[in-house]
Amino acid sequence: MSPEPQRKLSSSAGVAPAAAPSYRPATCTPPGAWRGAGYGQPFGATERTDTWWLMPLAQALGLGLLGLYATWAAFQGAHYEFGNYLSPFYSPLLKPAWWPISPAFLILWIPAGFRGTCYYYRKAYYRAFFADPSACAVGEPRKGYRGEVGFPWAIQNLHRYFMYFASILLVFLWWDVIRAFIFTDPDGSHYLAIGGGTLAILASNALLTMYSLSCHSLRHLVGGKLDCFSCAVAGGPRHGAWSRLSALNAHHMGYAWWSLFAVCFADFYVRMCSMGVFHDPMFVTFRHLFDYAPKISHFLL
Ligand code: FES
Repeated sequence: MSPEPQRKLSSSAGVAPAAAPSYRPATCTPPGAWRGAGYGQPFGATERTDTWWLMPLAQALGLGLLGLYATWAAFQGAHYEFGNYLSPFYSPLLKPAWWPISPAFLILWIPAGFRGTCYYYRKAYYRAFFADPSACAVGEPRKGYRGEVGFPWAIQNLHRYFMYFASILLVFLWWDVIRAFIFTDPDGSHYLAIGGGTLAILASNALLTMYSLSCHSLRHLVGGKLDCFSCAVAGGPRHGAWSRLSALNAHHMGYAWWSLFAVCFADFYVRMCSMGVFHDPMFVTFRHLFDYAPKISHFLL
C-alpha cells in the first residue's frame, strides 16, 4: 500500500479548513481538503440530526457519579471490612504505621492509572469532559490538536505498565474472593458459604478480570505486534491466545462499564454491611466441609 507522503497529523493541525465543496468527503482526506462538517466549525455546530449528544452526556454522568463515589469511599479509611469481606478498593490491605491517610491510596493509584490511561476511557472522557470532540462531525472548542505527545497527555503511554501492576493486583483480589466464601463461627471454626457479599465480590472480580483480559495493550503484547505468527516463536499458541483476547477485546467498552459499576457496588455492599445498614443474607452453607480438612481453612485464613 503506498504511503500518503503529505499526511503528518490526521487532524491537519495548523492547516486552515477549506471551504465546503459540492462533493461528499472521503476518509483520509489530505490536509487542506474539506474534511466534512465539524472540523473548524464553531463549538457544537454540526449537520448531524441524530441524538449525538446523548452518549457523551451519559458517559459524563456515569463517570462523574462513579468517580465521585470511588473518591469518597477511598477517603473514608473506614468500613472497608465486614467479617471475611474486604472492599476491592482496599485490597491488598496495607496499613503501615507511617502512612497518615486512608490505606486505599496505597493501592488505588494502580486501578486509577489503569483506567485513566485505558484506550476506551480516554475516548469516553475526552468526549464527555473536554468536548474534544463531543462526537464525530461536531464542532469542538479548540482549533488545534497536538495529540498525546506533550505533558500531561504523554502519560497515557504508560498504560502498558499500569496493566502489569493491575495484573498483580488481580491475584490479591482473587484471594479475597476465596476468603469471601469462608466464614467463621463464634467458636472459631470455619465453614464454607455463599453470602450476598460473596456474590458481590465474586462479580466484581470476575468483571475486573474480563476488563483486564480485554485490554488493548494485553492483546498487542500477546500477538498484536506480529506480522507473521507462523514465523514467531510459539506462534501457534500465541495466535490462539491473541484470537481469544481479540474476541474479548471487541467487548472492552462493556467490560469497562460493568467492572466499574461492580467494583463500586462491592465496596458499597461491604460498607453498608459494616455500618449495619445491610443485613448480609446467607444463600448456601456447607457447614461441615472443613471438618475433614481443618488445615485447609487455617492455610486459607
Ligand atoms: S485498553 Fe482499556 S484497560 Fe487497556
